[in-house]
Amino acid sequence: MNEDPGVLNNGESHDRALTPDLIHSLVQKSREAKAFAHCPYSRFPVGAALLDRDGRIFLGCNVENACYTLGICAERTAIQTAVSKGSKNFTAIAVASDVEEEFITPCGACRQVMREFGSEWWIVLTKPSGSYIIKTLEDLLPFSFGPEKLAMK
Ligand code: THU
Repeated sequence: MNEDPGVLNNGESHDRALTPDLIHSLVQKSREAKAFAHCPYSRFPVGAALLDRDGRIFLGCNVENACYTLGICAERTAIQTAVSKGSKNFTAIAVASDVEEEFITPCGACRQVMREFGSEWWIVLTKPSGSYIIKTLEDLLPFSFGPEKLAMK
């Protein structure tokens, strides 16, 4: 079940259209990133592929720790990598897991970290079969708190 919304560029905040080809490549890269997951405790590997407006793609996987609470999700790993390489204008992120029955969805903490970089970008939720659905961050985190709220003080 692919639910391509077609051309996703809304003309304002994204420099390039998120074409079906680009989505497929992002989905594939999120699956490749999953192979690097360090998840000996949960045995729940996750991969993420983050696309920026310049067309750069940053990968991330979950990295768990013997001190359980220090584990970090794939999505945040990808975002930290991107920001540390000078990229923070994001167009889309694809997320992959081994769950076959449902599309993987980001946890609340990852949604909030994504929100730091805008609400109008795309989250590609996948299944191992390669099928996906696409939501905006606004869909996943409505009525959110973001950096511009601080500027209102
Ligand atoms: N996890 C992610 O990396 N991303 C998600 O979207 C959901 C959960 C990780 C966190 C933890 O390492 C494992 O999956 C089980 O929760």
